[in-house]
Amino acid sequence: MTQPVWNDVDDYISGLLVGPDEALENALAASDRAGLPQINVAPNHGKLLNLIARIHGARRILEFGTLAGYSTIWLARALPADGELITLEADPHHAEVAKGNIAAAGLADRVEVKVGKALDTLPTLDGTFDLFFIDADKANNPAYVRWALDHSRPGTVIIVDNVVRGGRVLDADSTDPSVVGTRELATLLANEPRVSATMVQTVGGKGYDGFALVVVDS
Ligand code: SAH
Ligand code: DHB
Ligand code: MG
Repeated sequence: MTQPVWNDVDDYISGLLVGPDEALENALAASDRAGLPQINVAPNHGKLLNLIARIHGARRILEFGTLAGYSTIWLARALPADGELITLEADPHHAEVAKGNIAAAGLADRVEVKVGKALDTLPTLDGTFDLFFIDADKANNPAYVRWALDHSRPGTVIIVDNVVRGGRVLDADSTDPSVVGTRELATLLANEPRVSATMVQTVGGKGYDGFALVVVDS
């Protein structure tokens, strides 16, 4: 069972349980027209993010890595009308495309796109968050999770995308900064007494990958 069947099953799942969704489809089309890479979460993964945020009752969300705002829209839709999502994006072109997509989805009132490298814009943020979605440069994931832990309350949820990357996470000798960052993140989570964490492998239209799910205990 490999990629073709994963694609077909993803289409089957999304066809039944996700689509059609004009705002999300328009966001992906605008992203493609603007030349952005199609590295957004899959539709069923976006819906998973939305469901987790709803189950959790998240009111304040911080996202790392906006791209065209696809995952942003899924997460922001889970917020109450007075909720807030801040999303961090290093590339000004990506941020412009995302702002257009977020506005077209009717979510501009609760989403703020902060342009700049996350490590530069994080110091401008105050307070705690209910949920973090970390999906930017994987090399900095340990730093992002440490920052998140310092801006959490007991019960805060942290989701980290792309922690498996086709199994490359197993390569202890890798010099790929993404793999090094991901392995360091896994060790950090294993040794961090303030959290309960797991990682789940996924297959689908986006290949073989996985995500980490973390709850801050104290
Ligand atoms: N979350 C998006 C996909 C994000 S792709 C979705 O699922 O729809 C990763 C994004 O992170 C890219 O847009 C890239 O420009 C951005 N990025 C890379 N390095 C970054 C950094 N240091 N700070 C903020 N964003 C960064
Ligand atoms: C890449 C980044 C992602 O966040 C993702 O989900 C898939 C691929 C990438 O940089 O290649
Ligand atoms: Mg990702």
